This record gives sequence, C-alpha cells and structure tokens, in this order.
Amino acid sequence: MHLKKLIAGNWKMNKTAGDGLALAKDVVAAVGKQNEVDVVICPPFTALESVGRAVEGSVVRLGAQNMHPEAQGAFTGEVSAPMLRALFVTHVILGHSERRSLFGETDAAVNHKVLAAFKNQLKPILCVGESLAEREAGSTLKVVQTQTERALEGVGADQAASLIIAYEPVWAIGTGKVATADQAQEVHAFIRGLLVKILGEPAAQRVRILYGGSMKPSNAAELLSQKDIDGGLIGGAALEARSFVELVKAAAAVK
Ligand code: 13P
Repeated sequence: MHLKKLIAGNWKMNKTAGDGLALAKDVVAAVGKQNEVDVVICPPFTALESVGRAVEGSVVRLGAQNMHPEAQGAFTGEVSAPMLRALFVTHVILGHSERRSLFGETDAAVNHKVLAAFKNQLKPILCVGESLAEREAGSTLKVVQTQTERALEGVGADQAASLIIAYEPVWAIGTGKVATADQAQEVHAFIRGLLVKILGEPAAQRVRILYGGSMKPSNAAELLSQKDIDGGLIGGAALEARSFVELVKAAAAVK
C-alpha cells in the first residue's frame, strides 16, 4: 500500500519558546498549506505552546518528545498525556534511543507509554533501533524485534492507523553516518513483517515506518524511495527551516 509520507522534526533539547516560534513560523510559511506530506514538529515541552500557536490553522501538527504514562500524580518533573492534549499536541515520540540509553527507559516503560498515548488519542511515534555494537554482533534484527514486540504488547489492529514507528539505528543518530538505503530497507521490511504477525496484514500495511539517523536533503530521496520507508524522523536537519522544508519537499517528490 502507498502511504502518505510523514516528515517529523525532533528538536531534542534545542530552541527556547521564542526561537521555536520563529522556526515554526518559517516552516508553516513554506509547507503549512501543502497536502502531499504530513508534517509534525516536536519541540521541547517549554516550546509546545508557542509552536502550537504558530502551526494553528496549517497542516503542520504538534508532537511531544516524551510523556509519563499516568494522567496525573506525584511524579516530579514529568508531563502527562492530558497535559499534552490540552496544548493541542497530536503526536508523541516514545522510546527514543536517547531516553533508553541516557534515562534508563525499559521496553516495559515504553509499552506503558504507548498504551497511555492511545488511551488519550495521541499518536505514538515509537522509536526502535540497534547500537553499533549490536549491529557488529549481527543482532540488529533480534534487537529491533524485541523492542517492537515488547512496546506493542496490548496494541490492537484498530490502532494501527494511528501508530507510527521510527527505525533509528543508534550509530547513525547525530553522527553523520547514515544507514544505506539497502540497510534501512532491510530493517523496515523486517519491521513490516513483525507488524503483520502482531496486527494482521491489512493493519500492518497502514503503519508508517519512518527512518531516522542523519537524514538530510542530500540523502533523503534515496531513503524515501524505498518500499517500506514511509517518512523520516529528523534531528539536526530539523533545527533550520531551510533543510527541514527541503526534506518535506523531497518526500513530496517521491512517487
Ligand atoms: P539526527 O537527524 O540528528 O541524526 O537525529 C535523528 C534522531 O534521533 C531523530 O529522533
């Protein structure tokens, strides 16, 4: 099935509310009216409100980079799904490798968050991917399988259209080392096969699988033209309007 491409920008811990507002305005001015590609911007929590104002009335959607699975309570420093919803957030990145490796997020924690996202009508962008050591040990597919299966425990076929998966090889994140189109397609096709087993064939064909890891305008067209690559989760190149907009245009150009 041919899915509409999705380009999502993960700003990570970059941009104040004011800087984010300016960047989002530039993105909206360039791609806020087109309808060929879905576009999501994921600023830090503190810029959600200002970026939300900038994208209002455009096709650009607002995403968060993490959330706590509980709705409220004594969880100092955390932010919940209803809090995000109140700021018109529609998407949430979950299980990013930086959260797994730097903040100790387990597969079980990621699973709780995925279920909480669905319960609150937020679309999860579930991140999976292997480290360099794991790739070199030949365990890429096993790692991706475990992360995907554990994160999706309890997810049903009816939720597939709202599910987004991002394959992000850890060794390609922020390093300038991009996976080759063949390397990425191999893992994307494998994830599609896992989804068929977990959700059934028709539902699996509705899940968008994004590639993330040093995607830039110069390598996007080749990656995005692979059969099972339905878009990109962009870090560094999402921090400037020009490169992010070029990526949206590259996705629009892929037939
Ligand atoms: P880079 O595009 O900077 O490699 O980051 C990818 C990423 O981690 C997006 O979530």
